[in-house]
Amino acid sequence: MYPMTAKKYLIRALLPEEEIPYHLLLLADETKEAIDKYLTAADIYLLEINHRIIATYVIQIVNVTELEIKNIAVDTDFQGQGWGTILLQHATATAKAAGYKSLLIGTADTATQQLKLYQKEGFERYKVLKDFFIDNYPMPIYENDVQLKDMILLKKML
Ligand code: ACO
Repeated sequence: MYPMTAKKYLIRALLPEEEIPYHLLLLADETKEAIDKYLTAADIYLLEINHRIIATYVIQIVNVTELEIKNIAVDTDFQGQGWGTILLQHATATAKAAGYKSLLIGTADTATQQLKLYQKEGFERYKVLKDFFIDNYPMPIYENDVQLKDMILLKKML
């Protein structure tokens, strides 16, 4: 695990004049079109180390009590070092401070590592969105030769 206390980092909202970090967002979602759909009404946060943006998450209002993390991504060179955990904790604190009661996050039912991480951070399986990846993308998506079909939605009470 990365020695977090030894290194300075900053998490901040994307500035209006800044470029959208598609190179990171596309690590977590298949197409720019799919990303653009939720970016129209969502906040983007960036994690910086020494002025280098290495991770991001996108959070959207679902209803008056609930927010959803629509995208979370860490630069491949920095994955597995604790940054995703830090982003999930930041999203949790941000949603709680704003008075929301719960936070959602969804991923493919085949995304074992992601599901494990989210559960470790207090998210619980809540709903299965049947055929989400078939219905919402123009072409079949395969990961490790397995076609993505259902999305698992997880919820964390704040
Ligand atoms: N590499 C290493 N560990 C991973 C990975 C990965 N690609 N994905 C999940 N994990 C798990 C590990 O099992 C590990 O568990 P452990 O601590 O018990 O060993 C833990 O998560 C690692 O936690 P972090 O280091 O905090 O995670 P990381 O900084 O790698 O961030 C993330 C996790 C965001 C999934 C990152 O790996 C990534 O960007 N992956 C590619 C994009 C992606 O899949 N995004 C999520 C899609 S769902 C959505 O966006 C709503």
